[in-house]
Amino acid sequence: MTYNPKDEALKKGFTMQNDHLCWDGRDLVQVAADYGTPLFVFSQRQLRQNVTDVCNAFRKLHHDTHLFYASKANSNVGVLKVLRAAGASIEVNSGGELQKAKIAGYKPEQIVFNGVAKTQEEIRLAVEYGIASINVDSEYELKQVISVAEKLCKKANVAIRVEPQVPSPTHPGLVTAYHSKAGIDMIEAPRLFKVADDHAWVNLKGIHFHVGSQVPILEPFIKATRIIVDLVKQLHSDLKIKLEHINIGGGIPIPYKMGAGDPLEDFFYAGFSEEELAAAVVPIIEELGEEIKIFLEPGRRIVGNTAVMLSRILCEKEKVLEKDVSGKVHWLMADVGFSTLLETNNYDWYFLIASVNRFEEVHNKPFKLAGPLCDGGDYYHGADHVPEFKQLPSKTAPGDVIAFMDVGAYTLEQMFQYNGRPRVGAVLLGGDDQVIPIRRKDTFGDLIAQDIWDFI
Ligand SMILES: Cc1ncc(COP(=O)(O)O)c(C=O)c1O
Repeated sequence: MTYNPKDEALKKGFTMQNDHLCWDGRDLVQVAADYGTPLFVFSQRQLRQNVTDVCNAFRKLHHDTHLFYASKANSNVGVLKVLRAAGASIEVNSGGELQKAKIAGYKPEQIVFNGVAKTQEEIRLAVEYGIASINVDSEYELKQVISVAEKLCKKANVAIRVEPQVPSPTHPGLVTAYHSKAGIDMIEAPRLFKVADDHAWVNLKGIHFHVGSQVPILEPFIKATRIIVDLVKQLHSDLKIKLEHINIGGGIPIPYKMGAGDPLEDFFYAGFSEEELAAAVVPIIEELGEEIKIFLEPGRRIVGNTAVMLSRILCEKEKVLEKDVSGKVHWLMADVGFSTLLETNNYDWYFLIASVNRFEEVHNKPFKLAGPLCDGGDYYHGADHVPEFKQLPSKTAPGDVIAFMDVGAYTLEQMFQYNGRPRVGAVLLGGDDQVIPIRRKDTFGDLIAQDIWDFI
């Protein structure tokens, strides 16, 4: 298969004007010139669209569906506010995310809280605020929740996270329902649900599971839903426990790679849509009755395709290609590295890369592309149609701007200041041609803000 980054970008909805890459009608060369690089550029239109699309897909089949956006994918408060205004509720994983959710205006009934190791203080925040559901991850944690609720004299809304033991063919680090650290065993579930249901300080609300992230095929969702629905039936028939909601977690994949690749072989292809997911799982869930509420926790599907990273090429060089291959390799050094796009290093993540200022030119020259960090691992590698190489226009040179696409999830969230480099800024393409800053770049003051040296 011939790989053409330009065609892939056009399929993703980017456009071209005056040879430049454009998004939502904005010339990204101009945005890079106005705001500098590296820079995250978000689309407000796409953020709204994603919430609407996922909600509609489920509500068409089951009206009482609630989308709790998984904020660990991106908890920028500006982004959280846009999503809330678009109709999303929120899933949080820490006291910090819970407080961000409050600042972004989410009401208690719009918040669920996951996590394998919540502190007493985090549980206190959640019970005090009266959130929709603390998704309890162990018996130990259930006891903690009960003790906090007792102290506050306030009932805690609780769901229990169960691990259905269903593997999925995503990145091994992203499998969460198969011998993972999260959730309780199926075998333990009836006893724990009974303890929760019987307790005076617990409002037992629901059940939770999460198959994994960027799960490329439907099958694991169907299997897991079947297992959990059967468990809920058993809880009802054996223990007379009736749950209000079933939370099917996140994991909807996005097409980092377009076209007809096999998602089973390569999880950067998305093998199904939210419509297909809803069509597959809603009938199973409705075996529990039509009044059951469905909770969803998509993160990547809501923010993944809402941002590009603009980066400038700072330097170039030619070097001898690796041993046993003759010829030279052309290296390009960009101003963004894995301190900003950690997933490239952590999980060998694939991001489509295209030229911004030479977008019209044929992207047919294989370059090795590296970031600026003083770290041998700081280059963009693997998981590509051209392993180890990135295809860009042959004239690509220092001063050019390139775009990394679909970088809205698990990126800005994971930045750090390695090598004394500032975490980068972000802007939002809003309506009426507005470009709105939503994160300022770190200053030098930010780089040293946590250090203490007046002891010497
Ligand atoms: C419990 C839970 N819910 C939701 C998500 C969001 O997953 P995704 O971003 O793949 O939709 C995650 C992430 O792994 C998670 O751990």
